[in-house]
Amino acid sequence: MHFYRYYGKIYKRQLYCFAFSETEIIMDHSKSTVAERSSFTGKIGFVLAAAGSAVGLGNIWRFPYLAAKYGGGIFLLVYIILSVTFGFTLMVAEIAIGRKTGQSPIGAFRSLDKRFSFIGVLGSIVPMLILPYYSVIGGWVIKYSVGFICGEMSNMAGGDYFGNYIGEAWEPVIWFLVFICVTALIVLFGVQKGIEKVSKIVMPVLVVLMIFVITYTFITTEGVWDGIVYYLKPDFSKFSYMTVVSAMGQLFYSMSLAMGIMITFGSYMKKGISIEKSVHQIEIFDTGIAFLAGLMIVPACVAYDPTQISKGPGLMFGVLPRIFDNMPGGAFVGAAFFIMVLLAALTSSISLMETVVSTVHDKWKLDRKLSLLIVLGASIILGLLSCFGYSIWSDVKLFGKLQFLDFFDFITNSVMMPIVALLTCIFITFIIKTKTIDDEVALSGKFKMKRLFNVMIPYIAPICLLVILVFAILEGVGVITV
Ligand code: TRP
Repeated sequence: MHFYRYYGKIYKRQLYCFAFSETEIIMDHSKSTVAERSSFTGKIGFVLAAAGSAVGLGNIWRFPYLAAKYGGGIFLLVYIILSVTFGFTLMVAEIAIGRKTGQSPIGAFRSLDKRFSFIGVLGSIVPMLILPYYSVIGGWVIKYSVGFICGEMSNMAGGDYFGNYIGEAWEPVIWFLVFICVTALIVLFGVQKGIEKVSKIVMPVLVVLMIFVITYTFITTEGVWDGIVYYLKPDFSKFSYMTVVSAMGQLFYSMSLAMGIMITFGSYMKKGISIEKSVHQIEIFDTGIAFLAGLMIVPACVAYDPTQISKGPGLMFGVLPRIFDNMPGGAFVGAAFFIMVLLAALTSSISLMETVVSTVHDKWKLDRKLSLLIVLGASIILGLLSCFGYSIWSDVKLFGKLQFLDFFDFITNSVMMPIVALLTCIFITFIIKTKTIDDEVALSGKFKMKRLFNVMIPYIAPICLLVILVFAILEGVGVITV
């Protein structure tokens, strides 16, 4: 039994090691400790690895449609304010807990106070629910990549191509299965490092390509100015509690907060690296890419067809083919774009699956391959629900209005993550005290935003989270509507 536990711990460290690639840490298996190669590459390695896991479909697909749906500029403003207050403090707290305990979520809470390991358990369930529907969207991205490569661009740009496509019974299922099986194969053969390396090169190219597409759209599209104003200028009359609820959910989702991921990352960070600076950099990276994706999609949407604004998950797939269709060489640019998005999505889905597999492996002490199979099977079942929710089961509405995909998205982002975040704040305030975190952060230099932290965690964050949670649930069950 003891051996198993010990072994499990080492194994988990190995599993997560991929996320840091070769730059930051090397494993000393004989002692099960983390040794560092050089402090400079160490820091860059940490930020890149954390940002690599954070940047994904959340930034490119989810952020723009929420921004369009929940008021444009006002959503952006609320998001940025929440990001520098809430996002900052929560990420600092999670990374510090991870670094202090040197363990992954369940073990981290357990080692600080046995009674609270359930917070880690609750957080670990979130990625299990995200992975299936994340892969369904990954499947949509494959479909669009293949479509662009096969010269179907004009077709995809016309009418309600996307709506008809997801309404089909089988094709979306096939691409979903391809996406999730590729993810599983990469995890099985442990070739993440290769993908990570490729994506590190691809990411900057993606950013440059987005800037190019934005510039092109702005210069050539009639009526785009109204869209730019809509996206950038806060219109306070469009503010509603759902703006805050959705911005907060998006913040958690995009920065992989309130689900234990950052605790795991923190457990690999060495004491000398500044938590505060790293968090600022990850935030700038993550929010920057989301902002650009919004700039690419929202104004174009307003210019082409403002009725699409409230369209939701299909927004990116409706708007982008039209932009590329209007562009000389658009088929090539579009294909390159979707393939890059696919890579970004894959690195995130791999990281999600690794997390889930190692939780299953640790919790039930199962063989790693068996754990992977169980996770794959469960994810396929849950993912099928999300696929069929748009086609053969489109009549099924949870809480009277949510399709399966929306339901999983809602339950994780608007309900479970706020609960985990709230419990984390309570845990820090009453059990380990904010000073424990302050001290951990101060190990690598002065904690500049300490005052903000000490006001946010015990007072502001819990109150806001509670209010948001109540509104989200009331909205979800239909007691109130936007
Ligand atoms: N943050 C990722 C994105 O923006 C999605 C995500 C959520 C994720 N939870 C995760 C990625 C856990 C890796 C691990 O797309």
